[in-house]
Amino acid sequence: MKKLILFTIVMMFFLIACGGGSKEDEFDHIKYGFGPITKVDIGPIDQALVEKGKKIFEIKCTACHKIETRYVAPKLGGITKRRAPEYIMNMILNPAEMIQKHPETKKLLAEYSVPMTFQNVTKDDARAILEYFRTCEDK
Ligand code: HEC
Repeated sequence: MKKLILFTIVMMFFLIACGGGSKEDEFDHIKYGFGPITKVDIGPIDQALVEKGKKIFEIKCTACHKIETRYVAPKLGGITKRRAPEYIMNMILNPAEMIQKHPETKKLLAEYSVPMTFQNVTKDDARAILEYFRTCEDK
């Protein structure tokens, strides 16, 4: 009996020590997503960037997405309140891996049954679209 208690204590110690240690240096993929973007600097709204992003969005994204209503894909009004900027840019730049690995994106795929595909945008384009999204409220 004593041995069992001792064993349990030792095992708990290892679980806490290992779990705690690795979590600290692990990147938070659930918050930030999977892809090339690990940090986005957000400042006051940059109106020129908003205009650029809006144009790219209208050309490359509106076949599936609307801002105010769900369509082939989820509506994107208010997306910056629901998701981190890094998640949003990773989804734009790296949808295939996001759909495969991110639990929330996987759920969306199950719901919409359409896999989002990469739309040939650059990092700068994705940043501009993010700026545009910052001005799109959830209505
Ligand atoms: C072929 C249709 C299609 C196109 C084109 C498309 N998407 Fe998507 N998008 C989807 C679908 C469907 C989802 C939900 C996840 C899934 O099923 O892949 C999604 C998910 C997203 C998400 C995550 C939403 C959330 O709540 O997590 C963002 C952000 C996004 N798309 C942005 C864009 C942007 C920006 C573009 C244009 C560069 C774009 N999408 C082009 C279909 C598309």
